[in-house]
Amino acid sequence: MPLKLLSIVATERKNGNSVLASKYIAKKVGAELEIVNLAKLDIRPCKACYKCLYGEDCLIEDDVEEIFDAIERADAILISSPVYWLDATGKLKAFLDRCFMSLRYHERFRGKKALILTYHGFNEMVGWASATHLVLARILGFDVLANIELRAALPAEIFTDKETFKKLELAAELLKKGETRVFENQCPICMSVIFRVENGALLCPICGSKLDAELNLIEKGERFSEEWIVEHFNKELISLKEKFKEIKDELKEAAKIVE
Ligand SMILES: Cc1cc2nc3c(=O)[nH]c(=O)nc-3n(C[C@H](O)[C@H](O)[C@H](O)COP(=O)(O)O)c2cc1C
Repeated sequence: MPLKLLSIVATERKNGNSVLASKYIAKKVGAELEIVNLAKLDIRPCKACYKCLYGEDCLIEDDVEEIFDAIERADAILISSPVYWLDATGKLKAFLDRCFMSLRYHERFRGKKALILTYHGFNEMVGWASATHLVLARILGFDVLANIELRAALPAEIFTDKETFKKLELAAELLKKGETRVFENQCPICMSVIFRVENGALLCPICGSKLDAELNLIEKGERFSEEWIVEHFNKELISLKEKFKEIKDELKEAAKIVE
C-alpha cells in the first residue's frame, strides 16, 4: 500500500511552488497524494464562542470539517504554503484559528509525520510564516520531521533554483526515511526560527524553551506538547470561560466606559 500523503496548501496560483513541490515529493517517495487547497475552500473566522471546549459541535457551517477528514485519511502530511507579507497566508491563518476545535481529533491525528515547507520570494523577506505553519502542525498533534524554508518567487522556480531544489530533495529524503532534521538556525526543541529576547536570553515563542545566543538549550519548554495542549484546553481555557460567566455583568459595566 502506498503512503497516503496529504498536502495542505494555500495558494490561488495554478502552478504554485507549494503545489508543484508537493507533487514532486509524492512522486519521489511513491506516495498517493491528496491536495487540500485552503485557498479554494470556505473557511470562516472562529467566533470565539468556546462551545467546542465543552464538546459541542462548531456552529459554523463551512469546509473546515472536510480538512479534518482529509487529515484523518492521511498517513503523513505536508504543510506546504507560501509567505505572504512575512507571515502565513490569510486562508492558512483562518484555518489555524478554527483549529481551536481540533482537540477532539487529537486521538486520530497524534503522531502523524509532517513536513513544514514554506516558500518565500526574497531571502531578506522570509519572515515568520514557517513558525505559524509549525504552530498549526503542533496544535494538530503532528510529529514534525523538519521545518524547511525554500526560496522560490516565480511559479515552478522551486525546480530551477539549485539551492532550493536541494532542499526539496532533502525534504523527500527525510519523509521517505521518516527522519527528523533540526537546522542550526532553529529551536532545538520545536524547530522555530523566531525568538524573543528576554533578560538577555532567547525565548522560543512556540515551545517556550530558553536558549543562549548559539541556540543551546538553557531550559526546555513544553508549550504545544501533547500534555500541554490537553491541559491548556481542558483546564486553562475552560476556567477562563467559567470566569467569564461569573464576572460577565462586571465586564459589561466596564465596557460602558466607551459609550
Ligand atoms: C500577497 C503576496 C505577498 C507576498 N509576500 C512575500 C513576503 O513577505 N516575503 C517573500 O519573500 N515573498 C513574498 N511573496 C512571494 C511568495 O511567497 C512566493 O512567490 C511564493 O513562491 C508563492 O508560493 P506559491 O507559488 O505556492 O503560490 C508574496 C506573494 C504574494 C502574492
